Amino acid sequence: MNDPEASNECIVLARVPGETLEPADFELRGEQLALTDPGGDVTVAASTFGLNAGLRTRLGTGHSTTLGPAIDPGDTPRSDAIGTVTASDRPDIQVGDLVTGLLPWARVSTVDGGGLRVLSPDADPLRHLTILGHVGKTAHTALMTVGRLRAGETVWIPAAAGGVGSCAVQIALRAGAHVIASAGSPAKLDHLRDTLGVADVFDRHEDLAQALERHAPDGLDVYLDLVGGDSLRTGLEMLREHGRAVVAGLAGAAPTRPILQDSAELISRRISMIGMSVTDYPHAQSDLEAFVEHHEERRPFVASATTHHGLAEMPRAFCALFSSEVIGRGVVDLRNEPGPATPGPRS
Ligand SMILES: NC(=O)c1ccc[n+]([C@@H]2O[C@H](COP(=O)([O-])OP(=O)(O)OC[C@H]3O[C@@H](n4cnc5c(N)ncnc54)[C@H](OP(=O)(O)O)[C@@H]3O)[C@@H](O)[C@H]2O)c1
Repeated sequence: MNDPEASNECIVLARVPGETLEPADFELRGEQLALTDPGGDVTVAASTFGLNAGLRTRLGTGHSTTLGPAIDPGDTPRSDAIGTVTASDRPDIQVGDLVTGLLPWARVSTVDGGGLRVLSPDADPLRHLTILGHVGKTAHTALMTVGRLRAGETVWIPAAAGGVGSCAVQIALRAGAHVIASAGSPAKLDHLRDTLGVADVFDRHEDLAQALERHAPDGLDVYLDLVGGDSLRTGLEMLREHGRAVVAGLAGAAPTRPILQDSAELISRRISMIGMSVTDYPHAQSDLEAFVEHHEERRPFVASATTHHGLAEMPRAFCALFSSEVIGRGVVDLRNEPGPATPGPRS
């Protein structure tokens, strides 16, 4: 194996974050760092990271989730990433292979190769961090496997211009659904309309129930919950008979009223509320790839992302996920010198 300690750099959580996450909650460390997992057998030089808003719930909270363990001060967070193998003790992974998988926020790390997938040498990193990556897999599993979304049905997707959301709207449109998408800024709404092709969009700062009554007067069949709080309450209220609320994320604020006043509502409308974690679906990646391949030629997918440059930008890029600044998935590219984010998505 190569020496992963040579001239490495990584990002660590510097302190327990307050209510609002700040770049200063993180620190770039450039010492001789050994980022080697127990049993790690493949060393990867990372080139591009995709950022996950869900990581926020594990930072300094002591809470683990289905997507990973709690992250304490001094720990290095992980995200799905693309990199090149510089050393390998596995027969199925060779030096020089382009791989994707969960990697620490570091230039170089040695991880369990069992969690890596080899990509073709000419694979487009942005595509593998968006529609073909963790966020695309989450969106496809939540809508199609768990939500059983069918052509002609009406679905509401909040945080629709984010990482999971921008994949979800594209998948739902290609599945033949009537898509209603909400987001937090005019630029995001323009992106949803003009780049992703969603006709029915509204600003999440509007009254949610009024906006949904305007766009879906007959109610919703599926609500993809990425934010929780008042959105979840409103999504449940708007479900029509046999509607499904797929609860996948908590990116929003706490609810101002109880999510459900009376469980009789579930019975009278035969509606269901289903919590999901993409980690429970072993076929999620192959199901997603089959769906994308089936639809790609007739209606190509957009790799929707905002790219930041340089490892040192990682903390700022991560904090920006929670503003309305990042359109599509937040991506950090280590191949270029640090600099401002490349605005807007790539199609
Ligand atoms: N269950 C699973 O297996 C699974 C897997 C992956 C991700 N997830 C979850 O999916 C969600 C989205 O993840 P992501 O990484 O793609 O993040 P993201 O959507 O790119 O970023 C989070 C977005 O949430 C929106 N938001 C922030 N505050 C809000 C509020 N008060 N009300 C409504 N929306 C608010 C913001 O968009 P706007 O300002 O445009 O609204 C923000 O851009 C996260 O909750 C994550 O945990 C779940």
